[in-house]
Amino acid sequence: MRVDCGAPRTMSEVLELFVACLPGLERLVADEGRALGAEVLDPQVGAGGVAMRGDLRTMLALNLGLACASHVLLRIAKFRARHFGELERKAMQVPWGDWLRTDVPVAVRATARRSRLHHTVGLAERVAAAIAAVSGASLEVEGEPVTVLVRMEDDLCTLSIDSSGRPLHERGWRLETAKAPLREDLAAALVRASGWDGRIPFVDPMCGSGTLAIEAAAFARGLAPGRARGFAGERLAGVAAAGVAELRAAAAARARASAGTSIHASDRDAGAVEITQRNAARAGVAADLVVEHAALSAASGLRSGEPRGVVVCNPPFGQRLGSPAALAALWQTLGAKVAALGPGWTLAVLAADRRAALRCGLPLRSAFLADHGGIKVRGLVATATATAAPDESH
Ligand SMILES: C[S@@+](CC[C@H](N)C(=O)[O-])C[C@H]1O[C@@H](n2cnc3c(N)ncnc32)[C@H](O)[C@@H]1O
Repeated sequence: MRVDCGAPRTMSEVLELFVACLPGLERLVADEGRALGAEVLDPQVGAGGVAMRGDLRTMLALNLGLACASHVLLRIAKFRARHFGELERKAMQVPWGDWLRTDVPVAVRATARRSRLHHTVGLAERVAAAIAAVSGASLEVEGEPVTVLVRMEDDLCTLSIDSSGRPLHERGWRLETAKAPLREDLAAALVRASGWDGRIPFVDPMCGSGTLAIEAAAFARGLAPGRARGFAGERLAGVAAAGVAELRAAAAARARASAGTSIHASDRDAGAVEITQRNAARAGVAADLVVEHAALSAASGLRSGEPRGVVVCNPPFGQRLGSPAALAALWQTLGAKVAALGPGWTLAVLAADRRAALRCGLPLRSAFLADHGGIKVRGLVATATATAAPDESH
């Protein structure tokens, strides 16, 4: 059987990519991929990623510009393998040297499902041996390696290179966290699901480490999510450092100098507020944020006289509040505060307990349901409507 290798010989050759994300975020990732110039192939919700096509430059642009994704995988070969001899022979036909440099360490990881070859250590060893023999790449992991992924499913072997390296939600600026921090990709997903266009006020009255407000500021300014970190793809053969630098410079040149609207972040925990300020400074958006130490009931962002705006937050999931009654009261206060802002305002929340969230009294609709390490979390969005007066105890 032919070994189907998608290895390019030119910068413009079309590559098969798989952009991995938290299951549930596929549509948002597909929209982002299109905006970054990739050809997006029919996203399947729950698949844990989206197949895309694009050239090497697009692959790098995705790594730099995707906010809601985890990894950009470069599919380099696909073939049937029913025994180790077949795997070894076909893995030796892959032109590894087109991709892997001899001065960059390589790691190999394998997964297997419903396949005769199911011993993942053996799979990784065979492919690693082929890589070493064909490209001369070093498999001794010292320093940050480029990872080759071997996926066996129904006797079909897919070989990919992880062009991201560390997961993309690790932006490089969140060096400190308060309690229960939200992953940056989920925060970015909620900001997008809120429908916020970056031109009307944004408020997070329970900001914790500031993730939502910082992602919002970056979105409003058009700052690339990956601006403060590197990618494994920058260390592949055929990727010139000058080309990557040019891509980064072009992205930076497109960014706006300031957000152009107010972005409020507040929390009742003084430590969280300080962490938000420091994270915002590291992210280069401190000047875009108003950060305040205040309880929900006193947050100045929720007393805006503006006719339109968004309130985007993830209230505590419950356990820490002590009682279901306290959780219900918190959601009621949040709903009443947003309703009081007027019908031009939108509430977007991330919640693990939809019933608790509905205590806010606003007609929340589900924007996405994501699987976050086994916990189902829902992005819920509502437009403000009149409701009961706020309970000022929160
Ligand atoms: C789940 S955490 C938010 C995490 C945050 N999105 C992040 O990424 O770090 C919930 C936050 O709500 C805050 N909080 C809880 N009750 C509050 C209240 N009544 N007023 C203001 N903040 C409150 C907590 O201090 C905590 O920082």
